[in-house]
Amino acid sequence: MWKEIEAAPADAILGLTEAFKKDANPNKVNLGVGVYKDDQGNTPILKCIKTAEQKLVETETSKGYLPISGSPAYGANVQKLLFGADSEVIASGRAATIHSPGGTGALRVGADLLKAFRPDATLWVSTPTWANHKGIFTAAGFGIKDYPYYNAQTKDVDFEGMLAGLESVPAGDIVLLHVCCHNPTGVDLSAEQWDKVVAVAAAKGWMPFLDFAYQGFGDSIEEDRTAVEKLAAAGIDFLVASSFSKNFGLYCERTGALTIVSPTAAEAAVAMSHVKKTIRVNYSNPPAHGGLSASAVLDDSALYDQWIGEVAEMRERIKTMRAALVDGLAARGVEQDFSFIKEQRGMFSFSGLSDDAVTWLKENKSIYIVKGGRINVAGLTSANIDYVCDAIAEALKG
Ligand code: LMR
Repeated sequence: MWKEIEAAPADAILGLTEAFKKDANPNKVNLGVGVYKDDQGNTPILKCIKTAEQKLVETETSKGYLPISGSPAYGANVQKLLFGADSEVIASGRAATIHSPGGTGALRVGADLLKAFRPDATLWVSTPTWANHKGIFTAAGFGIKDYPYYNAQTKDVDFEGMLAGLESVPAGDIVLLHVCCHNPTGVDLSAEQWDKVVAVAAAKGWMPFLDFAYQGFGDSIEEDRTAVEKLAAAGIDFLVASSFSKNFGLYCERTGALTIVSPTAAEAAVAMSHVKKTIRVNYSNPPAHGGLSASAVLDDSALYDQWIGEVAEMRERIKTMRAALVDGLAARGVEQDFSFIKEQRGMFSFSGLSDDAVTWLKENKSIYIVKGGRINVAGLTSANIDYVCDAIAEALKG
């Protein structure tokens, strides 16, 4: 069957890791995939998760199926992270949450669900956006359009352009928005800007679909959810795809959630009935371990405090490496001003490196960066920062 069929290209992000693994250069550095590394270059299991897992292994008595929507305790904990424990959304029961296999799974389940009821809708994404967004929604059958987001001159959000773009989105279409730590640019909206976006969504009648993969990597768990709170307060329909790959370090456990927020509890119950149908014909019901581990952390105040500390440690180390990169390039006499990298938020830096420079760094220095110039700052360490700065300085000299 496959004899006449051309091989598919490698994935823009995960394909880099495949190439990196095969690279024999002892100095190689993977700044591609968004996976956190500590200063020793390891992706640690968080201490709070390790403790929770031990408890889980000791106390679990069955490997029976979870409900289609996942563990109810996990769903309740996800809602507390999204809206705050005392929120009106939780009290009124107008959100439905399911455990999805990772943030990608949440986006795909949400896309399939929306496609069933909005077959003619278009999905709008920011320019640029995460390399997998268009693929996920195209696979679900959506046509895709872009709205302006990043201004390469100011290295900031082109907010006027964005707002004008969103004003033109027809009612019933779906708009994908990054809640914080925008991937790939690292530039986010202010609270006032979110107010305006929420007002446009409410006035125009398009459906916000929030991608929330980096809660805690911007400022804090609470501050990073501003957009979610504002949309909830507007009382309109929206969806949130959460990922706990980064903030709980649960990458391989595929721990995510899809939350469907509606104006009333009755509508949320209808949404839940349909999302269960969507899941049942896809993967039937979710894996348990990651969700139960995260839930065990969130249910225990000591483990919760430890988690907050561990998230802060990751966030602060990334900021330190941002500064080290900017200062390292300046110290090597690089004329281009990279100081904007210090202001970017989350794991990534949209470095402004050209695709030619990205290719040169891979081929000559075994430094792997995503096309478009996105650097995973969390992959920089005290051991590789000088090598990376030397290499970028050399690449920029041409
Ligand atoms: C990334 O953007 O690198 C991460 O979200 C991992 C992925 O699946 O692409």
